[in-house]
Parts: sequence; structure tokens; C-alpha cells
Amino acid sequence: MSYQKTEHIAAGCLKADIRSSSIYQAYLGTCLGVALYDTTLKVGGMIHILLPEPLGNAGAHIPEKYASTGIPMLINQFIGRGSSPQNIKAVIAGGALVGPVSHQDIGLDIGGRSADIARKILQRHNIEVIKSETGGFFICTLELNMRTGETAINPAWEDVCKSQQEITPPTLDDIKKTGRAPANKAYTAGLLHDIGKVILDQYISNRAPLLFRNLSIETESFLSAEKKLLGITHCEVGAFLAKKWQFSSALSQAIRHHHHPEKTEDNKNLVYIVYLADLLMEKFHTGHDLEKMQTQSISHVLAHLGLTLADIPEIIDATPLNVMNTNE
Ligand SMILES: [Fe+2]
Repeated sequence: MSYQKTEHIAAGCLKADIRSSSIYQAYLGTCLGVALYDTTLKVGGMIHILLPEPLGNAGAHIPEKYASTGIPMLINQFIGRGSSPQNIKAVIAGGALVGPVSHQDIGLDIGGRSADIARKILQRHNIEVIKSETGGFFICTLELNMRTGETAINPAWEDVCKSQQEITPPTLDDIKKTGRAPANKAYTAGLLHDIGKVILDQYISNRAPLLFRNLSIETESFLSAEKKLLGITHCEVGAFLAKKWQFSSALSQAIRHHHHPEKTEDNKNLVYIVYLADLLMEKFHTGHDLEKMQTQSISHVLAHLGLTLADIPEIIDATPLNVMNTNE
């Protein structure tokens, strides 16, 4: 069998082609992936959707980000290449809840609604859905073999994104300034909150090389697994380091309490913002993250920041795509 190049379909992107020999691959958490293929003409395409529909006041409108606008664009790519809808078959994946689920889960609301809209649009265009694996609790990859039309949906740990892609790291200007915490402090806290992992990783690789893989399968929380294995969590190690290096109180609090912001003594807004950002990245960004953030307290976190669940799509919409697509 000859070599096939894997092309990563990043969040908020779609791609279609005819007689391509590539494999298209999307890495999906709460995001939704839709793969279409016309075996008659060998036209294939995939879209990686972040949100159900545009919010009206979106800054830079990118129709590929939304189920309601992106899927018709993908179908039009097929029509433009001569495909008839009855020859196009669809596979849907993603829309996962990712991690512990609360009654107010973000994934339930956003991933589930994206999947509903996708199915309705495909039905309206008489495109048959031959496979649909949405919901669930794990991040997955959706692959489309553009040569044969075969698709595969696998747990993310079975495979990693294979293609090399240039990613521009987010800058301070990418931060949505809400006034709830100083932007430069929030940026630094976002960069350094998991610094304890850098230290623990050296020990985890020797003691438990399959820890991360097992965490993807089991329901145990990341912190309790660290505690059991090493007797200490990355939050505690990070806090020691922050003290030793004389980090500011705000930064130290974010490092120590970013999994349990309610324990923060001061700089509460900053720590809650880091927690919320971590939670949203776990659900929406396309890299690995197995921290299994506790979402039971999400309503409390949102309330503290003066937000509601209804504000989340707007935050996701305002997040630059390069932030969503960092594969770290
Ligand atoms: Fe963490």
C-alpha cells in the first residue's frame, strides 16, 4: 500500500477535494466533525465545527466555525464538483461531553446542538448519514480516507494528529479583555498554571509510562492519580516552585488552586478565569488534555465571574482559532 499523507482539519476549517490521495483527520472533543464522501466521483471533504450557529455579534465571522453555515458550504463544495446529494454519504463524530458531566454541562449544550443541526441540514439535502458517533465522554479522531471514502472514528489515544502544521502561538492581543483581571497577569497565569507538570513529568514517565493512556480510559481524576502515584499533585509542586522563585501572590494562587478555584484566598477572579479557560480548552481545543476538570461547580464559577452558561458560546466564538488549534 502506498504512503498516504494525513492532513489535519483544524477547528473552524473545512476542506474538500476530488481524487485526493490524502487522509483527512480531525481531532474532536466537544467540537463536531462531519465527513462527506461521494464514491462515484471520489469527492471527499471534512469540516471541524466549534459551535451550532453564529451569534450575530461575532467579531470576525468565519462561517466554517458553525454547523448551520459551515455544513452547507461543505455540501456546496461537492455540488460544485458535480456531485449529486444521493451519492454523498456522511459520517458524524465528536460533540463529546468530555470529562465529568454536570447537569449544566457545556458539552451537552454546544456539542449536542451542533450534532442536531448537522443531522437536520444533511437530511434536508437528502444526504444519508451512514455512521454517527456523537456524545460520549472521550476525545476522538475522525479520519476520512480520500482515496477510498473509508472513515474511522477512534479514541484520541489510539492515534495522534500525524500531520505537521505551523501553529502561531496566541499573543497577549488575542486575549479577550473583560476587565475582570489584568490581561497581562491572566496571560502569564494561563502560561504557567500547570508548571508543576514539567517537574512531575520526569518522574511519571519512569514510574507509570501508561498513566496518561489509563487516565483516558478510567474515570479517576488527574489530581487523585498524581496523589496516589507520587504523593503530590502538580498544583502542589507548582506552588512550591512559585514560592521558591518568588512569583507574585496572584500567580502563585493560580498555580496552586487552578483546579479548585473556590479554595483561593485572594485574586479570586484571576484563578476563576484560569479555571474556566482550562475547562473550555479541555472541551474545545484540538490537543491532548486529560486533566478531567471538575465541572460540577461550573455554575458557581460562572456566577462568580458574572457569567451564565449562555455566555459560553460567545467566549468560544471570540477565542482566536490559533488558540483552539494548539496541539500541545
Ligand atoms: Fe492543572
